[in-house]
Amino acid sequence: MKRGFWISFGIAAFLFAGVQALAQDDEGEAQPEKQKGSELPAARGDAVNGEKLFRIHCAACHGFTGRGDGAAAKHLAVPVINLHDGGLMNRRTPTELAQIIERGAISVKGSRAMPSFKEALSPLERWDIVAYLETLYPKIQDFFPEAGRFTVKKFDMDDTGKSRIKKLLESDLSPAESSLVLITVFKGGSERGEPRNIPYVPAELDNLKKEDKLGYLAFFDIPGPKGSMSVGMAIAPNGTILKLSGTDALGVNAADNRMLKEFEGQGKRGSKPEPFKARTKPANVYAAGVFRGWVRMIEAVYGFERDEKDRTWAD
Ligand code: HEC
Repeated sequence: MKRGFWISFGIAAFLFAGVQALAQDDEGEAQPEKQKGSELPAARGDAVNGEKLFRIHCAACHGFTGRGDGAAAKHLAVPVINLHDGGLMNRRTPTELAQIIERGAISVKGSRAMPSFKEALSPLERWDIVAYLETLYPKIQDFFPEAGRFTVKKFDMDDTGKSRIKKLLESDLSPAESSLVLITVFKGGSERGEPRNIPYVPAELDNLKKEDKLGYLAFFDIPGPKGSMSVGMAIAPNGTILKLSGTDALGVNAADNRMLKEFEGQGKRGSKPEPFKARTKPANVYAAGVFRGWVRMIEAVYGFERDEKDRTWAD
């Protein structure tokens, strides 16, 4: 018998042991069930112990550092997610992450992609892993310290949007660039110091008032001389860049962040927004990439605002 077979067989057995814990919402996104078990512990988990446990229990699929490139990943029917992706990871509060580890995850297509760790890990060990996961990606509070609630939606650019962007950038968007996960952040209503994730459904979104909106956050790659950098961009409702930065985990160091900072305060919505310019020459290498990301983000913001207007009219 080939070794590959036993690896696949082992994983398959593993997957069937998974407890189905996530209900589907109408977007087809897997949503954790409401609060049960996995309550937030009094103290934060221990990230150092969490990292050790991650290597033992999670790295086979998620990769040694969580980038989704584990040895077993290629044997799975669904792609393993990159745990450094701020757009994906910020969809989940720490409590939800603890629940995902406890119960396992089912993929959007319904297959049990990730097993339950209810038996293999104690609740405290699961919280240690959550503490480690939280070190891997930039968090909403890093961009919006006042964040109380947020809602997340992936927007696909329609043809009107695509041609608008094409005119501005004088180049086409790649298929991957034609959609963007947009996080809309509001003040007030946090629970236990943790911003609350509001499901993207009309009944819930009605409680998010326009006057409480702090701005928008998205994560994307910008090309640069050293290869591409993964950054987070926070903008105010009027389009101005509030914060643009990456973390070590995203391959962005302090010098890069100083350059990215030069773009803060730029960005104004209008029919023909001005391309960005940095003060210093090295930072200007990133200007086109930052502008490209910003334009995609504004397009997603139009999508959010369209939904927002529809809701107001329905009242
Ligand atoms: C058998 C392979 C496998 C193992 C082992 C595994 N995962 Fe996963 N995990 C996956 C796959 C595949 C997905 C993507 C599921 C999907 O597409 O819905 C995933 C998704 C996730 C997600 C995102 C879920 C979501 O819906 O946002 C988190 C967080 C996660 N895993 C953490 C962990 C942690 C922590 C461990 C170890 C305790 C672990 N995983 C072990 C395969 C695995």
